[in-house]
Amino acid sequence: MQRCLHLAGLGAGHVAPNPLVGAVLVYEGRIIGEGWHRMYGGPHAEINCLDSVPDEDRHLIPHATLYVSLEPCTHFGKTPPCSQRIIQERIPDVVIAHRDPFPDVNGKGIEQLQSASVRVITGILGKEAAHINRRFFTRHTLHRPYIILKWAETADGKIAGPGGQRLYISGDVTNRLVHRWRSEEAAIMVGSQTILADDPMLTNRFWTGAQPVRIVTDRQLRLSHDRQVFNEHAPTIILNTIVEKTEGNIQYLRIQEGDDLEPVLTMLSEKGIQSILVEGGTALISSFMRQGYWDEIRRVVSATVLAPGGIDAPAMREIAVDAGWKGNAKEGNFDMRGNISEKNGKHAGRGDGYLLEKVEHLLNDRIEYYVKAG
Ligand SMILES: NC(=O)c1ccc[n+]([C@@H]2O[C@H](COP(=O)([O-])OP(=O)(O)OC[C@H]3O[C@@H](n4cnc5c(N)ncnc54)[C@H](OP(=O)(O)O)[C@@H]3O)[C@@H](O)[C@H]2O)c1
Repeated sequence: MQRCLHLAGLGAGHVAPNPLVGAVLVYEGRIIGEGWHRMYGGPHAEINCLDSVPDEDRHLIPHATLYVSLEPCTHFGKTPPCSQRIIQERIPDVVIAHRDPFPDVNGKGIEQLQSASVRVITGILGKEAAHINRRFFTRHTLHRPYIILKWAETADGKIAGPGGQRLYISGDVTNRLVHRWRSEEAAIMVGSQTILADDPMLTNRFWTGAQPVRIVTDRQLRLSHDRQVFNEHAPTIILNTIVEKTEGNIQYLRIQEGDDLEPVLTMLSEKGIQSILVEGGTALISSFMRQGYWDEIRRVVSATVLAPGGIDAPAMREIAVDAGWKGNAKEGNFDMRGNISEKNGKHAGRGDGYLLEKVEHLLNDRIEYYVKAG
């Protein structure tokens, strides 16, 4: 199953909004086939695994055990159901890490296999399987995107200079890492004040891979179109209370008056947005914290930059005590996994420990990860 999880991870950045899935076929301790879901719309992991079995080993398939990191599907989506293929291949034993929370599957894959006399074991490395698909699981169980709050603050706890003046807080290496974080999420979100103060481009320029959707809250439509976020480099969603329309790559989505994020997040999830990196400023991030809508926090703290009289960064201590938790987390159910990853070996982000180890001597910033226990 460890191998399945490793294979599943190879699809990262290519399969969303589908889940990452890996599969391995084993006959008497020998792997005779393996595969993973490589790209959205392409064959699922089980199919790639079965198709990979060499001709000389195909006669072993009806005596082998299939390990798969997520419950096989039963429905005709972009590809035929995997459960049917497993049954047709007469595989006697299937080991599954985790049920698929997607409503069209959710237990039906297991039932279908069992009713065809396939022996099924579930829950092997289930926690790890849920973790690699935390964005997919959050969307299908909590009906909102997976939310990562990210900001950079000065050594004296500010996110901007006096009067909102833009500061260059994090170093080049951290900026590159942040662009990689952007490439890993479906969307980036900022408040209107950040657009007014900083005019950021909000694209992934310093890392390979996908370009996330840019989401801006601009409830009164006060932003002028010469701001960079309106350029053609990525799709943009403007959340506002006035119009619902699309102009080229700019989509205006109407939201209710007030600060309640729940309907906004439900709507974004229904539009297929599986994860959001919320990049500031303090007002918007604090709103997410107070309402309990966050799954991870990534805080970059400069060792050297100071901004006396600047705008305060979001307050961590406040949320631990005051947040009105929603979703699957309860008050006080708060797990701080501290500081730079390699120091304690705990990583919230995929592979970040590796990156940080290699470049630590170049970093002037401390990166702290917080993960909400759920
Ligand atoms: N260091 C960093 O990492 C970093 C990152 C970003 C920004 N910044 C700095 O942060 C400063 C801006 O921060 P800020 O705290 O003043 O403003 P902000 O958070 O960027 O934007 C605040 C605006 O977001 C909207 N908003 C807030 N809560 C909302 C909710 N629950 N639902 C919908 N919309 C909501 C409101 O705008 P509308 O009413 O117009 O919708 C609000 O006025 C800038 O000076 C910038 O330089 C720093």
